[in-house]
Amino acid sequence: MAKPKVFVTRIIRDKGLDLVKEACLADIWLEELPPSRGALLEHVRGVDGLLCLLTDRIDAEVLDAAGPGLKVISNHAVGFDNIDVAAATERGIPVGNTPGILTDATADMAFALMMAAGRRVVEAEKFLRAGKWKTWGPSLLLGVDFAKATLGIVGFGRIGQAVARRATGFDMRILYYDPGASASNPYPSGTVSTTEISSPPPWAGLPAVSTDLDTLLRESDFVSIHVPLTPETRHMVDADFLSKLKPNAVLVNTSRGAVVDQSALYETLKERRIFAAALDVTDPEPLPMDSPLLELENCLIVPHIASASLQSRDMMAFLSAKNLIAGLNGEKLPHCVNSEVYEKG
Ligand code: NAP
Ligand code: GLV
Repeated sequence: MAKPKVFVTRIIRDKGLDLVKEACLADIWLEELPPSRGALLEHVRGVDGLLCLLTDRIDAEVLDAAGPGLKVISNHAVGFDNIDVAAATERGIPVGNTPGILTDATADMAFALMMAAGRRVVEAEKFLRAGKWKTWGPSLLLGVDFAKATLGIVGFGRIGQAVARRATGFDMRILYYDPGASASNPYPSGTVSTTEISSPPPWAGLPAVSTDLDTLLRESDFVSIHVPLTPETRHMVDADFLSKLKPNAVLVNTSRGAVVDQSALYETLKERRIFAAALDVTDPEPLPMDSPLLELENCLIVPHIASASLQSRDMMAFLSAKNLIAGLNGEKLPHCVNSEVYEKG
């Protein structure tokens, strides 16, 4: 039997690519940069499966270009805001993602950014390399304190909870805001209700307290964002949000760039109304080199690398290949974001 035809929009790690090559007739985009819109529309024509990256916008036009034979879309990421899931669902196409296996790597990076921005690590290194280090100074490059500080986590899902676990090692007080949380059930929705818990959930014992967003913003020394990008969370971090932060607060964003209104953040940081911000994600990506954010010493920015650990990227490749192949075989995807496609019969 002929192998199914798939388009893979970039070279992924061998742990996944080898599986895809074995099971499929794979058209693999070999360039460093993503396929242009035109190239994407051309290469999806007539495919049975699509393995795409967060840099590819997969909308109705792409699905129509692929045609009725498209059986599965597998995103090499946990976030899936690059995909028009409703359009896929309408066409009965399951969409896969890669949750869980990058949670620790992403939480590690959120914590690394929080510490680097709070203790001015990058600024200090630049200072040294510029030959400005004359002596040990009592007030040289002072940062903020972590021990006993309050950490506010916005979005208490997999990654938010993993950040909380790390914060316990720093004796931090932990607040979280998540729309699924309430006083009677302090756990976020979409996980498990307290009555269903038979074995301790991963966050059991975490001394994290659910609050409303205003309280979290006013009481936190560090605020870390872990929500998905949705119409509701787009520009959630706006001028009003930022105005509620403490003067020495540090804001960290490892979710999606568009969750933050970057103009509002620029004004806030320029006027030193908060201590610092650290961003793994920007809007757009890559951040243009003339972005005013790059002029600021109190803004640390890295190029969307929170999941960039060897193990995570191997597992992202593996899981995205598994999702793709399951979809091609007409099986349920191991991780599907629109499982309602299976209810349609
Ligand atoms: P998750 O387990 O689904 O957690 C997201 C949490 O945010 C959920 O509990 C969700 O609640 C909550 N939420 C949704 N809307 C909210 C709102 N308006 N305010 C507060 N909380 C809200 O997802 P995850 O695995 O932790 O990943 C989170 C996001 O991180 C991904 O969507 C992705 O965009 C980003 N990410 C980035 C990187 C990177 O490299 N920088 C790596 C991995 C992930 P409900 O379930 O009730 O909706
Ligand atoms: C990375 O940003 C992801 O969503 O996996």
